[in-house]
Amino acid sequence: MVYHADYSNTKGLTKEETLQHILDSFETLKTKNWVTNLSNLSSLLWHSYHSLGIKVNWTGFYTIDESINNNNNELVLAPFQGKVACQTIKIGNGVCGTCAFTKLTQLVPNVEEFPGHIACDGDTKSEIVVPILKNNKIWGVIDLDCEELNGFDEIDQLYLEKLAESISKSL
Ligand code: SME
Repeated sequence: MVYHADYSNTKGLTKEETLQHILDSFETLKTKNWVTNLSNLSSLLWHSYHSLGIKVNWTGFYTIDESINNNNNELVLAPFQGKVACQTIKIGNGVCGTCAFTKLTQLVPNVEEFPGHIACDGDTKSEIVVPILKNNKIWGVIDLDCEELNGFDEIDQLYLEKLAESISKSL
């Protein structure tokens, strides 16, 4: 018997294998509903990173919600795992808003050195934020926080950017 929860079990895999597992699981689990998809992805990211011993304290998403945001100048909180977080982020503000504004991944080894970083949790030491584009416009971001400095590197960037592409194709 295979349970859905088994997708969260990546014990014994290397970092590359673990991140590839997230990509493969997304292809298997994805539905037509983006809330469903991002909910399962935030869980997959949470458990996969923890199984690697990387102390992520937040794994989730912010998206542009056109229904409540006429000017498209804000990101709103979307599915995540971790502690309660800020509900809205202006485009251009913080790490997420900078990612949305530039449409470029923000790899932040030390959040205290990132001008304007928005601290939702004082325990966060490093962060990576990856843009999700739809028709070359920002649709949302993937946001991962870590309780240690230098929590993320170019390998995370590579696989999370592939994940952002898969999410984009599923929209
Ligand atoms: N640190 C982010 C805010 C979101 S939380 O990390 C969940 C930022 O500076 O945009």
